[in-house]
Amino acid sequence: MQLTGAVAVITGAARGIGAALARRFEKENPAALVLSDLEPAPGILAADVSSEHDIQRLIAHTIDTHGRIDLFCSNAGILVEGGAGCPDAEWDRIWKVNVMSHVWAARALLPHFRQRGGGYFLQTVSAAGLLTAPGSAPYSVSKHAALAFGEWLAIHHRRDGVKVSCLCPQFVRTGMVESVQSPLRSWMVDTSIPPEAVAETVVEGLAAEQFLILPHPEVKEYFQRKATDYDRWLRGMDRLIREKEGG
Ligand SMILES: NC(=O)c1ccc[n+]([C@@H]2O[C@H](COP(=O)([O-])OP(=O)(O)OC[C@H]3O[C@@H](n4cnc5c(N)ncnc54)[C@H](O)[C@@H]3O)[C@@H](O)[C@H]2O)c1
Repeated sequence: MQLTGAVAVITGAARGIGAALARRFEKENPAALVLSDLEPAPGILAADVSSEHDIQRLIAHTIDTHGRIDLFCSNAGILVEGGAGCPDAEWDRIWKVNVMSHVWAARALLPHFRQRGGGYFLQTVSAAGLLTAPGSAPYSVSKHAALAFGEWLAIHHRRDGVKVSCLCPQFVRTGMVESVQSPLRSWMVDTSIPPEAVAETVVEGLAAEQFLILPHPEVKEYFQRKATDYDRWLRGMDRLIREKEGG
């Protein structure tokens, strides 16, 4: 899809990848860019994506104001560190933000897209949706689920003209990576790419209408290795994470 002349909505647009997407999209001369985040700010509407009501309100407001939505970027997401021991409340919180936000956006927008003969969902997932998230089980699980939902949507609503891209970066230099508490933090920060590089790849991926948008091309190779020999991949990930925890 072309962003020129499009009406696009971005969630989680106050900082990080969402803010970089907004800055990059602006250069393509969209008809309108509607930015939202948890807290209102100049040029940013308040919408908590862990609330279906807020997502409905954001979508209704955009259609009322701009007449349509061409692209919905479901970008807001959170990280919860830890494993099986994470409290249920944290699993519930990340499930709503990282998974249900995409479901609720689709639920609210599919009738509009069907009526208009199509529309585009960009879901910010993560390489963790294809591989795993070192140090965070809730993030890995929620991002796998988000990717599964994106796949399902792309298959079952293709006939309605609905297109889906899932953005799956590895580490990106934003508040999320900088907030990591585990010993893996320095590895993640040191190997992270700037959000501007992610935004550039997104514009290319949207133009090509690719399902998987991979700002780190090596992720495709890791994903292929995982599919080719799962057991070898599991052993390799254990070794890598232990090495990075120690280093
Ligand atoms: N930073 C990375 O390394 C990385 C890698 C892969 C994927 N991602 C994904 O990219 C997306 C953006 O993350 P980021 O790195 O820019 O992080 P970030 O923390 O810099 O920005 C996230 C933004 O989302 C907002 N947000 C959080 N919860 C929200 C909610 N309930 N409702 C509305 N807005 C909310 C925050 O206020 C913030 O402005 C997330 O989905 C994240 O999982 C990040």
